[in-house]
Amino acid sequence: MTDLFDLSERVAIVTGASRGIGKAIAQQFVQAGAKVVISSRKQDALDIVADGLRASGGEAIAIAAHNGDKVALQALVEETLRHYGKLDILVNNAATNPHFGTILEADDSYWRKTLDVNLMGNVWLSQAAVKAMRAGGGGKIINVASIVGLNPGRYQGVYSITKSAIISLTKTLAVELGADNIQVNAIAPGLVQTKFARALWADEDLLGEILAQTPAGRIGQPIDFAGIAQFLASPASDFTTGAVFVLDGGLSVGSI
Ligand SMILES: NC(=O)c1ccc[n+]([C@@H]2O[C@H](COP(=O)([O-])OP(=O)(O)OC[C@H]3O[C@@H](n4cnc5c(N)ncnc54)[C@H](OP(=O)(O)O)[C@@H]3O)[C@@H](O)[C@H]2O)c1
Repeated sequence: MTDLFDLSERVAIVTGASRGIGKAIAQQFVQAGAKVVISSRKQDALDIVADGLRASGGEAIAIAAHNGDKVALQALVEETLRHYGKLDILVNNAATNPHFGTILEADDSYWRKTLDVNLMGNVWLSQAAVKAMRAGGGGKIINVASIVGLNPGRYQGVYSITKSAIISLTKTLAVELGADNIQVNAIAPGLVQTKFARALWADEDLLGEILAQTPAGRIGQPIDFAGIAQFLASPASDFTTGAVFVLDGGLSVGSI
């Protein structure tokens, strides 16, 4: 019987994979048989994760690239092609959130940094990846957005706007790449216990408020995103494109 979720012989790039959600996705892909190229800014941290992936019996390499650096992202795709000969799956997961405050008081440097890393980096990487995917007859792009891309997070307006843009990018690419057999989908996490969101979950009062509104009664862990990523990377999702999958323990549904 065909395994709809099998990733054998697939080649994937996962950005922001030195820890958190990206690392959990990379681990899941390797378990499902994929060859994985992990990326983030810090080569040392990536090397440790890649060693772990290989020690578990998988195939993985680590290539550092800043998500705001177009040339570095193009080189990431070129190096992937040189090493593995093709590219089937791209997970745009790396992001930044340097500004906590209202959007009107955020200065231009924050806007530019957040737009470059969270939006333009994913555009540049998608441009380079799509060329390779077209050559291979199809592919999968998975964008990690956020529930604050659907409704803005308080004092996280700049970041929220970039995540709304990611949702729009996902839908737009789904339309533009449908005929190329490239499916493009987004995952919108709620609060997840990673370094990225530490300021939120480490604040006991804030965490209590969030948990009171979360039907699941807990915040997310990186592993909660591994299964949906495998689905969206695999033949099981061949008829799924332009979709946004909210994984937030029910937070956005709210309490009764
Ligand atoms: N945690 C949450 O509550 C939450 C909620 C909704 C959405 N998300 C989204 O989930 C994704 C992953 O976040 P996470 O929670 O897993 O965070 P995390 O554990 O802090 O991991 C972030 C990853 O991104 C990399 N990174 C950061 N800035 C980068 C840059 N400029 N260029 C390239 N790589 C960069 C980091 O590695 P280096 O430091 O080595 O670069 C790291 O591998 C992000 O898109 C985030 O917006 C998170």
